[in-house]
Amino acid sequence: MYDKFPFFNKGKAIQNEPTAETGKIPQHVAIIMDGNGRWAQKRGLPRIAGHREAMKTIKRITYEAQHLGVKVLTLYAFSTENWKRPKSEVDFLMRLPEQFLHSYLAELIERNVQVRVMGDMSRIPENTMRAVRQAIDRTKSNSGLILNFALNYGGHAEIIHAVRTIARKVQEKRIAPESIDEQLLANNLLSPSLPDPDLLIRTGGEIRLSNFMLWQLAYTELYFTEVFWPDFKEEDLKSAVYEFSRRQRRYGGIKDKGSENK
Ligand code: IPE
Ligand code: IPE
Ligand code: MG
Repeated sequence: MYDKFPFFNKGKAIQNEPTAETGKIPQHVAIIMDGNGRWAQKRGLPRIAGHREAMKTIKRITYEAQHLGVKVLTLYAFSTENWKRPKSEVDFLMRLPEQFLHSYLAELIERNVQVRVMGDMSRIPENTMRAVRQAIDRTKSNSGLILNFALNYGGHAEIIHAVRTIARKVQEKRIAPESIDEQLLANNLLSPSLPDPDLLIRTGGEIRLSNFMLWQLAYTELYFTEVFWPDFKEEDLKSAVYEFSRRQRRYGGIKDKGSENK
């Protein structure tokens, strides 16, 4: 069904391994971790079993990304639309960050990973917030991979947040409307210090963004795979990075003189 989409990988690993030396390792990889529910249903398990299994994938993929030389890994953990799910599933998902950090924070610290979150934290339960705050605090000086969780995150909500912040400054006459440019808007998004993602991976077979990083993905390379997130392995990440290393990014321009497409 997906054969006509060259960007759609069915989960077959590509053997050639890109290396940091090739200079084609994406600095920032963002992942829409989808397919947990279907992974569980396929096994006759409740959907939450898929979310539980997902934590192991997060750990493995974090370390593999770090190993490959990726600098920032952003993971879509809960969207502003996921509140529409049954309360029992939402409650489970809201407790997951705490469980994840309880299991793996010590290891993340040992591996020099820096934990961050982006999203609307106002609806996150207190216990979860406490665990998240502690993780951020205890890893803030780490200089290794930045592991950025998008939690109660929505691309529309993020842009609205930026626009409101800027509108307030205009109202207070601290900036002129004419000085609003792309850089200013980007600076008022939720993770202004991070570069835009170079590579977006979506697991689980859907070919859509589901309100993820709409501003930042403007020129990101997109990679879709049918593999459900709990089944996503180190080899699958390598395949995506390898595919990325073969892409030619033009940003609306044309290829360098001297290359085959001139
Ligand atoms: C992704 O898996 C996890 C979250 C959205 C939190 P899903 O729960 O969406 O799994 P599917 O897409 O129903 O299989
Ligand atoms: C996107 O997955 C959100 C996360 C992975 C957190 P969804 O499962 O919520 O997306 P839709 O509903 O299929 O678009
Ligand atoms: Mg889904």
